Amino acid sequence: MSEHNNLSDAVVVVTGANSGLGFEVTRALAEQGAHIVMACRSIGRGEEAKQEIETGIPEASLTVHELDLADLDSVAAFAEWFKSDYDELNVLCNNAGVMAIPRKETEQGFEYQFGVNYLGHFALTSYLLPVMEQTAGETRVITQSSVAHRNGEINFNDLQGEESYSPWDAYGQSKLADLMFAYELDRRLRKTNADIKSIGCHPGWAATNLQRRGPEQSGSRLRLWMMTLANAVIAQSAERGALPMIYAATDSDINGGDYVGPDGFRNMRGSPEVQGSSERSYDVDTAQRLWDVSEDLVGVSFGSPLLVAN
Ligand SMILES: NC(=O)c1ccc[n+]([C@@H]2O[C@H](COP(=O)([O-])OP(=O)(O)OC[C@H]3O[C@@H](n4cnc5c(N)ncnc54)[C@H](OP(=O)(O)O)[C@@H]3O)[C@@H](O)[C@H]2O)c1
Repeated sequence: MSEHNNLSDAVVVVTGANSGLGFEVTRALAEQGAHIVMACRSIGRGEEAKQEIETGIPEASLTVHELDLADLDSVAAFAEWFKSDYDELNVLCNNAGVMAIPRKETEQGFEYQFGVNYLGHFALTSYLLPVMEQTAGETRVITQSSVAHRNGEINFNDLQGEESYSPWDAYGQSKLADLMFAYELDRRLRKTNADIKSIGCHPGWAATNLQRRGPEQSGSRLRLWMMTLANAVIAQSAERGALPMIYAATDSDINGGDYVGPDGFRNMRGSPEVQGSSERSYDVDTAQRLWDVSEDLVGVSFGSPLLVAN
C-alpha cells in the first residue's frame, strides 16, 4: 500500500457505524486520530459500539447521532444537525445497508433495499457535499457496493419492485446503483474544480450481521443456518472486510472514480486493491438517467450548480 492520507483530526461520517464493517472502519479511523460521527439508526446500539471502541482506544473521538436511511426526514434532520455542529467534512463513508430481505417499504414508500442502500445515501451526499466543498484540502465520498452489483440491473420500469420482487435482484440493483452513483458523482466532480473524490468499494464476503437479516425477516431457519455456516467457513472477518473502505479513505494515490475490493479468490477475500467492476456499472447513459430519477424521487438536487450533467 502506498502513502497514507493523513486523517488525524479529520472529520469523518460513517453510516451504519455500530455494526460489522462500519464498526471496523470507525475503529480503524479513530485509531488514526480522526473524529468520527457514527450515524446510526439506533442511538442505543450506536452508544454501545462507541463504548466498545473507547474501551480499546481511550483517546477515540466519537459522536453518535441518529440517522435512519429509511426515512428521508431523518436524513434531512441528520444533515441539518451536522451542518449546525460542524463546518468541515473530510470523509463521508456511505456504508449502511441491508441484504436480501422480504419486500417492505421505507417511510416514503421506496422498496427498502433501494431506499436504504442507495436513495438514502444519495440524499445524504447531496446534503453534505456543500460542507465538503468548503472544507480545506482534499475530501472523499466513499460508497459501499458489493460483488452482487454484477448481478444487478437498474430496472427503470419497476425500480421499486412493485410488479415483481426478488430479494436478491433488489439487493443487486441497489448495489449497482451505489456503484453507478459513485462513478457518476466523480464524473460530475471532475468537471468542477472541487477537490472532492468519489470512490466505490466493496468488502468481498465478510462475516457480519448482514447475512442474518434476510433469513430472520423471512423466518427461514434453514437459510439462517446456511448463512451462519457459510460465514464461519468461507467469509473473512469484518476487520478484513473493512479494509477496502479504509484503503479508499486513507490511500494517498487513489483516484476519484476508483473501485476498491479484495484481491483474492473471486474478489471475496484478500487485501485491498483497485479493481474493475461490471461492464454495466460503467454505462454513463444509465448512470445519468438514474441520477435524474433519484433527484426526482428523493426531492433533492445536488446544490452545486457545477454538478449538472452535460
Ligand atoms: N458483509 C458482507 O459480506 C458484505 C458484502 C458486500 C457488501 N456489503 C455491504 O456492506 C455494508 C455494511 O454491511 P455489514 O456487512 O457491515 O452489515 P451489518 O453488520 O448488518 O451492518 C449494517 C449496518 O447498516 C445499518 N442499517 C441498516 N438499516 C439502516 C437504516 N435504515 N438506516 C441506517 N442504518 C441502517 C445497521 O444498523 P442496525 O445495526 O441498527 O441494524 C448496521 O449498522 C452494507 O452496505 C452491505 O451491503 C457487505
